[in-house]
Amino acid sequence: SIVSSKHRTGFHFQPQRNWLNDPNGPMYYNGIYHLFYQYNPKGAVWGNIVWAHSVSTDLINWTPLEPALTPTKPFDINGCWSGSATILPGNKPVIFYTGVDSNNIQVQNLAFPKNLSDPYLIEWIKPDYNPVIIPDESIEPSKFRDPTTGWFGHDNHWRVIIGSRHNHRGMAIMYRSKDFVHWIKAKHPLHSASNTGMWECPDFYPVSLHGNTGVDTSQYGDGFKHVLKNSLDVTRYEYYTVGTYYREKDRYVPDMTSADDQSGLRYDYGNFYASKTFYDSGKNRRILWGWSNETDSVQDDVAKGWSGIQAIPRALWLDEKGQQLVIWPVEEVENLRGKLVHIKNKELKYGEMFEVQGIMSSQADVEVSFEVTGLEKAEIYDPTWEDPQVLCGEKGASVKGGVGPFGLLVMASSGLQEQTGVLFRVFKAPNKDVVLLCHDATKSTLKGGVFKPNFAGYVDVDIRKTGKLSLRTLIDGSVIESFGAGGRTCITSRVYPTLAVGNNAHLYVFNNGQQKIKVSHLKAWEMVRPTMN
Ligand code: FRU
Repeated sequence: SIVSSKHRTGFHFQPQRNWLNDPNGPMYYNGIYHLFYQYNPKGAVWGNIVWAHSVSTDLINWTPLEPALTPTKPFDINGCWSGSATILPGNKPVIFYTGVDSNNIQVQNLAFPKNLSDPYLIEWIKPDYNPVIIPDESIEPSKFRDPTTGWFGHDNHWRVIIGSRHNHRGMAIMYRSKDFVHWIKAKHPLHSASNTGMWECPDFYPVSLHGNTGVDTSQYGDGFKHVLKNSLDVTRYEYYTVGTYYREKDRYVPDMTSADDQSGLRYDYGNFYASKTFYDSGKNRRILWGWSNETDSVQDDVAKGWSGIQAIPRALWLDEKGQQLVIWPVEEVENLRGKLVHIKNKELKYGEMFEVQGIMSSQADVEVSFEVTGLEKAEIYDPTWEDPQVLCGEKGASVKGGVGPFGLLVMASSGLQEQTGVLFRVFKAPNKDVVLLCHDATKSTLKGGVFKPNFAGYVDVDIRKTGKLSLRTLIDGSVIESFGAGGRTCITSRVYPTLAVGNNAHLYVFNNGQQKIKVSHLKAWEMVRPTMN
């Protein structure tokens, strides 16, 4: 079938055609990065789910292989759903995944590489002893899925958690095993929280207290904190907490600064879901993959022949204050930087803007350093503005302000009928000034039937002290990914312009705030296309 190229991405992970959702079982093994993902081989809507498989040596250029897991056995005949990879002692990878069995019950299965000397691990074997975990009477059989990477405990037992829900309580049910094959349910979940809905795709891993080096999932000790992430099926957003893992009790306790509920921290305040991290032992970092789905209509997806991309792979680590993560595109993305435009020391007064010319800005990597010349004109922060997304909905790019809105207009048509705003606003507050990073997609397309949400998050920076705000934005066909203040707040949006396509997409810098802003530096690179499946 024919695939429409209009809104396809150039350097984001996507298959040639059809439906994609969650990243599965990412791993680095013998010099190769593996990415599996939920895929429908038969169309551009969800269904017939298999584990598609691609390999890479640099996280950027990808080669597709045969699907690794397809529904063939009673224990997965209704779908090979999400799961994780673990590398067992002796350098032996194993996949742990959810199978939807012949009775539509969610069970947990194992799969092993058929031939460990095949560098690409193309074929995977599902032993006949599967399933290795079935839901007991206390677990709802339709709410029991997405096993994590295993970690090895002080008692020589493996542990994994599996996402679930009991009444309205989201939970991470824990299992232990001596051999990774026989699993016993722990007495209590690793963690749970009321009124969250089902916890899909949980992730649990240690982060180092100092520096940006990642650590293996089984690491434990004084130098680490732990992160627990869940994807909430009700809101379609993900939340994480930073906390302490007490391994003797097998309990995880979030720090006081980390909320368990929907006021909590997010990897990404936009369109980013069902994510999963893995430890890259090649470069000692922890890498995050996440799915960004389409926000056009189902009919649009069927017509264009594809749906879903993976957001750019990102490294993550604990911020120096130990209260949140910092998330940044993997350095390999920079190898795709081609033609550069560099702008220095440009002032923007109230209502001014300028265009960044000379590159095809529909496929670009943009880094900007803004200088805020003072906070005298800043609006006063209203403490009822708890939800940044609501605030961004009221105060988009065209709503004039005190300090900001200032930032970028990306994927803009020459007459600005189409544009997506990537903007900051700064508010004065008694203890600490408040910085908002926002994606305003309300004018992203003239096309009808498209969901055009505004997304936003607050940014934890001391603007009064530094007077500076940095922004990096990746633009690629139909995706915009922004990283504020060095990756303290990230937002991903999907947009479908009709005019601002290819060479007709423009990039502007604007200031709609009364306070003067200086662009100390702006670097915009046109991105080269890698080999993508
Ligand atoms: C998350 C999810 C998982 C499930 C998979 C099915 O997007 O619903 O919970 O395993 O997708 O494709």
